Amino acid sequence: MSSNDFFAARERMLMRIAQTRDATGAGLPHWARAEDGKWTLTSDGDWTGGAFVGELWLAHLADPERFPISDAHAALARMLPRAQLRTAFKGFGFYHGAALGSILFGDEMARDAALTAARSLGQMFDPRLGLIPLGQDAEEANAVGAAESSIDSLQATGLLYWAADRLGDSYLEEVASSHMRRVLEIHVRADNSVIQSSTLDPQTGKVLRTHTHKGYSDVSTWGRAQGWAMLYTAHAAMVRPKEPLWREYAVRVLDWWIDHVPTDLVAYWDFDDPAIPCTSRDTAATAIAAAASLRLASALGSTGGAKYRDFAERTATQLVSRYLTPTGPGDLRPIGMLTGGCFTRKAVARDIDTVQDAELIFGSYFLFECLVILTGLMSVGRI
Ligand code: GLY
Repeated sequence: MSSNDFFAARERMLMRIAQTRDATGAGLPHWARAEDGKWTLTSDGDWTGGAFVGELWLAHLADPERFPISDAHAALARMLPRAQLRTAFKGFGFYHGAALGSILFGDEMARDAALTAARSLGQMFDPRLGLIPLGQDAEEANAVGAAESSIDSLQATGLLYWAADRLGDSYLEEVASSHMRRVLEIHVRADNSVIQSSTLDPQTGKVLRTHTHKGYSDVSTWGRAQGWAMLYTAHAAMVRPKEPLWREYAVRVLDWWIDHVPTDLVAYWDFDDPAIPCTSRDTAATAIAAAASLRLASALGSTGGAKYRDFAERTATQLVSRYLTPTGPGDLRPIGMLTGGCFTRKAVARDIDTVQDAELIFGSYFLFECLVILTGLMSVGRI
C-alpha cells in the first residue's frame, strides 16, 4: 500500500469520526453494528469511550477547522465521573482520552482529568499484591475486585508513567513499574503467549488460578490478551528506554504474535478457538498489534526497529484494504468504519460486550493512530 493509500484511509476515518460525533449526542460510542454503523452508546464512556475522545484529539491535529478542540472537550466532559471509579481500566480512557490532549496541545482540562485519574489509580495500588487489582468497578461481567488481576490492567501504566513524568512523582513511577513487573510475571507464559486473567490471595499475592474473562478458555490465548501485553510493554519500552526489561518483554510477546498470526495478518478472536477458520476475526486486537509494533519500532530505533515498522505497515494495509468501509463496490455503509471487531464470543460477558463482527471504538482508535503516524502527521514515539 502506498502512502497515498494511507492518506486516503485517514480521510475515510475522519469522515467516520465526524459522523460519530454528530450521531452520539450525549453519550460515548462503545461498538457499532457492521450492517449500518449504528452505535451502542454508554452515558459516561465505560472503559472504551476514551478511545473516541482520543480520536477527536487526533482529528483536531489533522483538521482543526472540521474538528475544533471543543469537540474533544465536550466528549471528555462526559467521561469525568469515571476518574475516581475503582477500576484499573480507567488508565485506558484517561490516557488516550485526556493525557493525549495535554501531550499534543498543552490542554489544561485534559491534563487535570488525566492527573485526577492517575492519582486515583496510584491509591488503588496494593503492596501485598505488588499491583493494582482490577477493582470493584472494573468493567467485566464477573471476577473483579481487590484480588483479581488481568493483562488488560496494563492499561494503567501508560497513564501512570505520563503522570509520573508530568509531576516528577516517584511514587507513581514505582507503582507503574511494580504493576508492570507483577502483571507480566503472572500472565506472560513461558512460551511468550499470554493468559488474560488471574485470581490472587489477597493476603500474600500468591496466584490462586489463572483464567480468562473474554477468551475461549482458561488455557487458550485470547487475541486481545496478547494485544494488551504487546501494546503496553512496547509503550513502556518507548517511554522508559533505560529499563531493558520492558523492551525484552515487548520483543517476546510481539514475536509470538508475528509467529502465530494467520498469514493474512488479521488475528482470530482467540488463537486457540478449535473452530478456526470458521470463527470470528478480531480487527481490534489486530489494530492494537499494529500500534504496538510502531511503538516497539520507535523504542528499538532504526536498525532493530525496522522489522516491527514493516510489520505494522503490512498489518495496517490488511485492515485498511479488507475491513475499512467501503470494503467493495456497492458498500453503502458509513465510510471509514473498521469492521470485523469481536468483543468476545464467550457466553459469560456483560450484555453490552457480546458482539462479533462489529466496529469496536478502541479498534478504530488504534488503526486511526497508526494512520496518523504512517502519514507523517505525528511522529512515532509522541504518544
Ligand atoms: N478489557 C479490555 C478488553 O476487553 O479488551
